[in-house]
Amino acid sequence: MTQHVDNIAPHGGHLINRVATPEQRQQFLVEADALPRVQLDERTTSDLVMIAIGGFSPLTGFMNSSDYEAVVTTMHLANGLPWSIPVTLSVTEAIAEPLKEGSKIRLDDPNGEFVGILELEQKYRYDKVKEAVNVYKTDDEAHPGVKVVYEQGPINLAGAVWLLQRDPHPFFPAYQIDPVDSRSLFREKGWKTIVGFQTRNPIHRAHEYIQKCALETVDGLFLHPLVGATKSDDIPADVRMRCYEIMLKYYFPQDRVTLAINPAAMRYAGPREAIFHALVRKNYGCTHFIVGRDHAGVGDYYGTYDAQYIFDEFDPKALGISPMKFEHAFYCTRTQSMATTKTSPSTPDERIHLSGTKVRQLLRQGELPPPEFSRPEVAAELARAMKVAAEV
Ligand code: ADX
Repeated sequence: MTQHVDNIAPHGGHLINRVATPEQRQQFLVEADALPRVQLDERTTSDLVMIAIGGFSPLTGFMNSSDYEAVVTTMHLANGLPWSIPVTLSVTEAIAEPLKEGSKIRLDDPNGEFVGILELEQKYRYDKVKEAVNVYKTDDEAHPGVKVVYEQGPINLAGAVWLLQRDPHPFFPAYQIDPVDSRSLFREKGWKTIVGFQTRNPIHRAHEYIQKCALETVDGLFLHPLVGATKSDDIPADVRMRCYEIMLKYYFPQDRVTLAINPAAMRYAGPREAIFHALVRKNYGCTHFIVGRDHAGVGDYYGTYDAQYIFDEFDPKALGISPMKFEHAFYCTRTQSMATTKTSPSTPDERIHLSGTKVRQLLRQGELPPPEFSRPEVAAELARAMKVAAEV
């Protein structure tokens, strides 16, 4: 029998699976009541899921101090593999104190539901300001990622985890395509090169432009909107997913595109998160990853192309996924098409740029974003969602 080899290996060589087997699950359920409990928040719950389904391969759990230190200071794991974002479980001293290294901990989600097990390997203190400055490039607590670090407990709990079971997503079950599934889907479709697209915003024409430019040079496009925790003023995931469904229906070739949810939480770490986002998509089977303007940025913390430059700091082979870098795209009134300064001779007054913030302002005033910015069907959906939100 010939064994199929994927086009791209998961990060670290094999896909991690930390979803409990039915037998393990039975055992955990028997033990659960007697185990000490730690309650996860929305972000650590999604981290648990991402680890379990292999999205964070090669991680098998929350980071120990050697991986954590190496990641914060060198953007690599202790074993030398590239990794740019700490994945940690932080608790208060009072919670950490009675927990014994070497024991099992029951992990509950924010609703108090038993969702996983931590095999506690180590408890350690860490330097919050160092993490903020190295990972987020600022110690400003107004930064949404830094705020999380400053508000969380001072002790990290490290160790391998088990997810009790992989439940279908309550809202997007059809789009819950885990790394093992996306890899087999790409194989079935015969795609050898696949470009991944990360997003946390409703799709606009600059997104569509860079997605389609990328698709011109590869076999398939993996649209992978993030549906885990985002900051409160970002557009909710269900609205963003409906916009994507509309786009697929009217504006994309169905046989070249896969839409799937990314269950992870946003960190807003700009350049470092671009590397992290690329590695996650490598685990889903992508060979390429789109990095546009101010990828995963927030406010003015990062330069427009910092998230592209950071790729130069890594050995491309060790990274194992190729960035596809795009300049700031806009609608060009001279050529009457989407463009960048690389492809259009326009002067600045011939360029229509709209930001997510501007679009939200327009919608609040009851105006639709113009067709140069959003496809009309998407604009209508955003307006509808805004109206419903205002009525609640
Ligand atoms: S992100 O936080 O997930 O990066 P967003 O959903 O806005 O935010 O962006 C998704 C991807 O599209 C990122 O790679 C980003 O750099 C890129 N992008 C967004 N707007 C533009 C634009 N006008 N021109 C070029 N790239 C863009």
